[in-house]
Amino acid sequence: MASSASTLLVTGGAGFIGSNFIHYLFKQADFTGTVINVDKLTYAGNPENLSDIEKEHGGTRYFFEKADICDHEKISAVVEKYSIDTVVNFAAESHVDRSIFGPKEFIQTNIVGTFTLLEAAKKVWGARQDVLFHHVSTDEVYGSLGETDFFHENTPYAPRSPYSASKAASDHLVSAYFYTYHLPVTISNCSNNYGPFHFPEKLIPLMILNMLEEKPLPVYGDGKNVRDWLFVEDHCSAIYAILKKGRHGETYNIGGENEWTNIELVNLLCEKVAEKNNKPREYYKKLITFVNDRPGHDRRYAINCDKIKNELGWKQAVTFAEGLDRTVTWYLANPEWIEHIKSGEYRTWLEKNYETR
Ligand code: NAD
Ligand code: TYD
Repeated sequence: MASSASTLLVTGGAGFIGSNFIHYLFKQADFTGTVINVDKLTYAGNPENLSDIEKEHGGTRYFFEKADICDHEKISAVVEKYSIDTVVNFAAESHVDRSIFGPKEFIQTNIVGTFTLLEAAKKVWGARQDVLFHHVSTDEVYGSLGETDFFHENTPYAPRSPYSASKAASDHLVSAYFYTYHLPVTISNCSNNYGPFHFPEKLIPLMILNMLEEKPLPVYGDGKNVRDWLFVEDHCSAIYAILKKGRHGETYNIGGENEWTNIELVNLLCEKVAEKNNKPREYYKKLITFVNDRPGHDRRYAINCDKIKNELGWKQAVTFAEGLDRTVTWYLANPEWIEHIKSGEYRTWLEKNYETR
């Protein structure tokens, strides 16, 4: 990021992490810049996530442009029009299960879209070095771990789902633009996020919503797959640290150092929702239903994030107990948000793919 007064192009800002990141930015005392949110508004994009930001900063420090990151003309025009000096690329198709049912959109947005953004940045920025292209990626590019190892920045890429393969390809392109064209880039590979505005097709919000409707809680396979969970705000603070101090051409791993098997996590969530809804502690656990495993289901993800801690002084600020409490509280306090999501395309997809199994 060129300075605290930078003009950022945030792609996918209407999604889960992107909208949290925009909220985070506007809360930072040392950020005086402007945000241009470019989002195609797919099923996962919800401008309602940013209605408060729109109200407070719309037309002055916040601008929304509905656009596809694969649209070279439009993206170049946005980079030029707003004199963008920093790109933060969140836009992606992000759900592994959807990538298994239909990988095409993943190839298009995650690979062609990232390529298009890189081309637009290269065209408009030329040889400038006072700019930054930050690419937000996932630890899933590293593949699946055994019981004890951790992903490091130099772990070889071994993606196993169409989603992770498309993210891996996009990471390689970003890196290639650094070495070949000297485009100033940084990449972050983060573990599973959770928190407010999480689209309810992913494990944590899906379970919370199903509990509220007393529907089955579908746990894939034996429930012993392990994920490393990070509260979304901690991901945002890590990205902000990279924008300010990250070294060009570098990759930073970000994680929660917080591993849980899926079944442990679902049990915890059941207890938390029961506590908030004044139900007996075990009340929702009867809804837990083991279902067929996801094809190619990665067994374990775990991040070593020593590099970003040591180099940039970042660390997680939110404990898992606090994060889960804040997340469940947020979903219980926002029935309207849930209802709006449910009445959209999401509903049809969910019915087709989950409820008929
Ligand atoms: P999300 O699915 O909630 O949001 C994606 C956003 O991108 C949506 O607003 C959508 O409308 C937009 N989008 C999709 N295709 C687009 C296109 N062609 N042009 C413009 N906008 C488009 O995803 P998320 O969970 O917020 O993830 C954001 C990024 O973080 C992704 O790149 C993902 O790979 C990465 N990531 C996510 C996690 C996680 O746990 N969710 C972890 C690590 C990394
Ligand atoms: P998910 O939230 O889809 O994230 P990712 O696949 O990117 O890690 O899934 C998290 C874990 O939960 C993963 O091991 C798959 C599992 N899972 C279930 O057991 N049931 C579900 O309904 C979903 C959506 C996921």
